[in-house]
Amino acid sequence: MTFASTRRLAAAARAGGYAIPAVNIVDQLSLQATVAAAQAANSPIILQTSVKTLKVVGAAQLAAAARIAADAVDVPVALHLDHCPDRAVITEAIAQGWSSVLFDASDRGLDQAWAETREVVQEAHAAGVDVESEIENIVGVEDGVGSDEATHAYSVDTLLEVANDTGTDLLAPQLGTAHGLYTANPTLLFERASEFASRTDIPIVLHGGTGLSADDFARFIASGTSKINISTALKLAYLHSAHRHLVAAEASGKWEPVKLFADQVEAVTATVTEHIDLFGSRDKANGAAA
Ligand code: 13P
Repeated sequence: MTFASTRRLAAAARAGGYAIPAVNIVDQLSLQATVAAAQAANSPIILQTSVKTLKVVGAAQLAAAARIAADAVDVPVALHLDHCPDRAVITEAIAQGWSSVLFDASDRGLDQAWAETREVVQEAHAAGVDVESEIENIVGVEDGVGSDEATHAYSVDTLLEVANDTGTDLLAPQLGTAHGLYTANPTLLFERASEFASRTDIPIVLHGGTGLSADDFARFIASGTSKINISTALKLAYLHSAHRHLVAAEASGKWEPVKLFADQVEAVTATVTEHIDLFGSRDKANGAAA
């Protein structure tokens, strides 16, 4: 099936009391494994690419691989560009058929972030593409984008005013999480998530999913977040399985690339399946609007 709308998947998840896993894939193997896990669990899924992945693998190649994978299954699959401050890359992703983009304007001051988000929404909507917006920064560096310092922070009122004015489809506010592995216990802002959800129908996105507990996820979902981003956990599963394979290959003297790929697919599939179950999206494919 053709790509689903990220906004509609997240809106259906909010209504249904679950969240859609938004998984950062890094290549064709992790992409296929993620879609296979979604199909096996009858779950909607959002494939995300960082700007770095888009540049290294190639936008056309990624979009084609995602389309082939999505066409082969009957669960809804969206293709989303993660944190992108670069307007030229947004334009490229829209041209290549991404179904949604995260315009990350958190490195700009409020007035500029507001004006540019409005322009990006107009450009994307003209092509039928949804826009997630981030104007206050979620701490942590994700594939070279972002900052470890909180550089811009706004009130809920301001974030909602900008989101409503610009026509934002999904909103990524600071909820106390951070990208990457936690070095200290985060202060999670469940009440802030609830306040957004009680004041707007715009789906709320939770970044920095790796390292949160099952209880944290359940509380964020109960608070109304319905797209949850997972990147580092996938990278670790992918590379640790490769490492284990290569150590064993060295010991046995048997070097079989295709067996390495199979191990990586198995590890990514298991990690995505685990998050589908944590987020409650198993067997929700039919209720999710495509
Ligand atoms: P983690 O790397 O902490 O899972 O965060 C993923 C993310 O929020 C991608 O935007």
